[in-house]
Amino acid sequence: MTSLFTPIRIGSNTLKNRLVMAPMTRSRSNDEGIQSELAATYYGQRAEAGLIITECTYVSSLGKGYVRAPGIETTAQVAAWKKVTDAVHANGGQIFIQLWHSGRISHPSLLPDNATPVGPSAIKPAGQVWTLDGPQDMVTPQALEINEIADIVSDFGLATAHAMGAGFDGVELHAASGFLPEQFLSSGSNNRQDQYGGSVENRVRFTLEVLDAMIAEAGSDRVGIKISPEMNFNDITDTNPQETYTYLVDQLNGRNLAYLHVALFGTPVDYHGLLRPRFEGAYLMGGGLDQKSATEALIEGRADAVVFGNAFLANPDLPERFRQSAQLNAPNKETFYTPGPQGYIDYPLNSN
Ligand SMILES: Cc1cc2nc3c(=O)[nH]c(=O)nc-3n(C[C@H](O)[C@H](O)[C@H](O)COP(=O)(O)O)c2cc1C
Repeated sequence: MTSLFTPIRIGSNTLKNRLVMAPMTRSRSNDEGIQSELAATYYGQRAEAGLIITECTYVSSLGKGYVRAPGIETTAQVAAWKKVTDAVHANGGQIFIQLWHSGRISHPSLLPDNATPVGPSAIKPAGQVWTLDGPQDMVTPQALEINEIADIVSDFGLATAHAMGAGFDGVELHAASGFLPEQFLSSGSNNRQDQYGGSVENRVRFTLEVLDAMIAEAGSDRVGIKISPEMNFNDITDTNPQETYTYLVDQLNGRNLAYLHVALFGTPVDYHGLLRPRFEGAYLMGGGLDQKSATEALIEGRADAVVFGNAFLANPDLPERFRQSAQLNAPNKETFYTPGPQGYIDYPLNSN
């Protein structure tokens, strides 16, 4: 019977178990987007996971949406990530990097030359973004020109090449949480009149072009995608999300991706039930799982692998704790995004 500890092949990688560490922003990089030395320790500590997915990492500095977020654009950024992949591999783990463009969810103070954030359309998101000066209102983004869209697609290809050079086992497209791909997917942030807006075919086009650019560099079996339909985050709205996501998943079929990662947060619709049977590949389920619900999902065939965020953040040895049915450390939200080692690399192991 399938369990959390049954190995699984995902694209070209065989995972030693089905426990996946969720992508989690930890804001420990410097202002140049260079990952801290601590990151190698943090990710290396969690190499018991079948697969680690890194925090979202900007493909170009115009796509940065948080303070102290890492990038994979410059030589120095790539070199810092190489230390992370080396540490994970030395401990017998595997690691994908989550590639990200924040689009309109940003602020001029986070961008080069105080640039205006970009988006599919000039529609201002409600809410605030965390900057060096604390939370600030988001601004009306500049609608991307067609040639600028092509540049961003190329940026994802280049970032994928950098990621493979940095030793990653694969790349995940961040198409969740209201960032640029989801801004294109969703009618509330996309009122374009050209081939990137309007019909579902047009709204899905950007995400597919980005995926194809990533596939061209890494091979389809090393490319995954994360979505979070109706997450209700970063002011994303869509008039018909069920149509949008079923159409998207139909288009993913045939691309032979490593996986589809779906994280749900109390949606009115059972998107796992809707999308899992539709997707012809490995299905990663995430959002609010515990050992019991994750095991049941695997046994009942509702997922191929299970993704844990908070629990992996606070328990570097999460697989071993599950094996022993040991108690879990509680995550400390106060140190989720603070610089330095505290709340990052100092969560105790079970044996301590
Ligand atoms: C501190 C923190 C940072 C996160 N940052 C990201 C991120 O960079 N990219 C992403 O796709 N999801 C991010 N998430 C969401 C997680 O990937 C995951 O979907 C979510 O935590 C639900 O899983 P859980 O209930 O097991 O924690 C973050 C979550 C947490 C707790």
